[in-house]
Amino acid sequence: MVKLNRRQFIFLGAAGAGITLVGNWLGKKTISSQSLLQSSANLAPIHQSRDGLLELDLEARERPINLSGRQAYLLTYNGQIPAPRLEAKPGDKVRIHFTNNLSQPTNLHYHGLHIPPTGNADNVFLRINPGEKFTYEFEIAKNQAAGTFWYHPHLHGLVAEQLFGGLAGLFIVRGGLDEIPEIKTAKEEFLVLQDFSIDERGRLLSSMHMSLMMGREGDLITVNGQVNPSFSLPAKGLLRLRILNASTSRFYRLALENHPFYQIATDGNALNEPIEVRELLLTPGQQADVLVKGDRQPGQYRLLNLPYDRGSMGMMGGRGMMGGRGMMGGRGMMGRNDRDVPRVLATVNYESAVEPLSLPTKLASISGLPEPVTVRRFELNHGMTPGVGMAFLINNEPYRGDLIHTQVKLNTVEDWELTNTGVMDHPFHIHVNSFQVISRNGQRELLPAWRDTVLVRRGETVRIRIQFRDFAGKTVYHCHILDHEDLGMMGNLEIQA
Ligand code: C2O
Ligand code: CU
Ligand code: CU
Repeated sequence: MVKLNRRQFIFLGAAGAGITLVGNWLGKKTISSQSLLQSSANLAPIHQSRDGLLELDLEARERPINLSGRQAYLLTYNGQIPAPRLEAKPGDKVRIHFTNNLSQPTNLHYHGLHIPPTGNADNVFLRINPGEKFTYEFEIAKNQAAGTFWYHPHLHGLVAEQLFGGLAGLFIVRGGLDEIPEIKTAKEEFLVLQDFSIDERGRLLSSMHMSLMMGREGDLITVNGQVNPSFSLPAKGLLRLRILNASTSRFYRLALENHPFYQIATDGNALNEPIEVRELLLTPGQQADVLVKGDRQPGQYRLLNLPYDRGSMGMMGGRGMMGGRGMMGGRGMMGRNDRDVPRVLATVNYESAVEPLSLPTKLASISGLPEPVTVRRFELNHGMTPGVGMAFLINNEPYRGDLIHTQVKLNTVEDWELTNTGVMDHPFHIHVNSFQVISRNGQRELLPAWRDTVLVRRGETVRIRIQFRDFAGKTVYHCHILDHEDLGMMGNLEIQA
């Protein structure tokens, strides 16, 4: 019998045609087809910058994908679920030759990156029609923090649908944090969390059949496009997980059996030092980097998604009645069970021991922002709006493309007080600049951290502090439950030079 080591194994897996053959050689006992799939998925093309330039062709199109043994017609970038991972360094130029071969208009957003919101950069007001090409071009600032960011479509009204189709990929900026010796030595894995809902013929459930008010959730939860993939944790060593919630509306409350997480970054921004957490709540749009210590009994441990109650439309506390189409019923509404039972997302297997590796101590030094020049208030809720029907609202207004909802001055610091008076949780996201949470319900936030998305629970008031640095222009803030964003919970932000 032929013995393959892991490297050959991965190589054959990647070759695609080798899969069945290898599976037969090794027999089902040692290797499941799942791990084969995983090996190949880990080798999904990565585009890295070279000599200061990250350049690639990126095509959005619908295509059949093998999703845990079922054929599914999904929306892909370069045919991949999740999309290819992009990697660049501070100071690099990025040039993406984008082609829209979807049947709808679309565009690209670079979530969490501190780049201009204008021109050919992070411009969410662009509309790239079916069949059109567009070249995105920007520079990653020298002072851009290294971290886990991502890209996804952002054309208002179609964002939820296109993301739910699968359009999302990681955008990694390599630098500072990655050079810390313990982190550099740690084994690195990427986890892109996506949920899907497909019918018997492999077609995506349409918006008509989903609960848009709650925000659509799919019953098929995938990690890197697979159901329950395996990751290996070096015994005595460290495993670094870079986790992205790329789901349209689903929250993930993650826990790894018998292992705490040591969180080292929030939304792509390093923390001052690792923070031990038993559970990690990731709202849509949020990213986290955590370390896992391989210091337990070697074996298999499940990465679980624990139930989380993000509110419901059932108790209608909003400003109006439920109305409109596609809000109730369908499979998208999800049985109760789905919410109440932990689900296995992935499996972590111990592998052979390495030189003992301890946790890093110092990661970054986050300093507080100066006192704000302005305090603004934003109320998040939903309600009936004349001419629109049921909408999601910020300060009682649904989004309008032709309005500037908020005007700020470049380089100033502001506090935004976000109050959720509705019946559902809303993760609030701002483009271009990260912010710090100052307080929740008047309680000072003790953890110094930079974020691009913050959860505002129902009934809660969260105060954040933000500085509008470097780039003037028009951009947006919104709820990252993307159905809420599409149904109006977004505002235009003008940063004036
Ligand atoms: Cu990831 Cu405006 O969003
Ligand atoms: Cu964003
Ligand atoms: Cu929301």
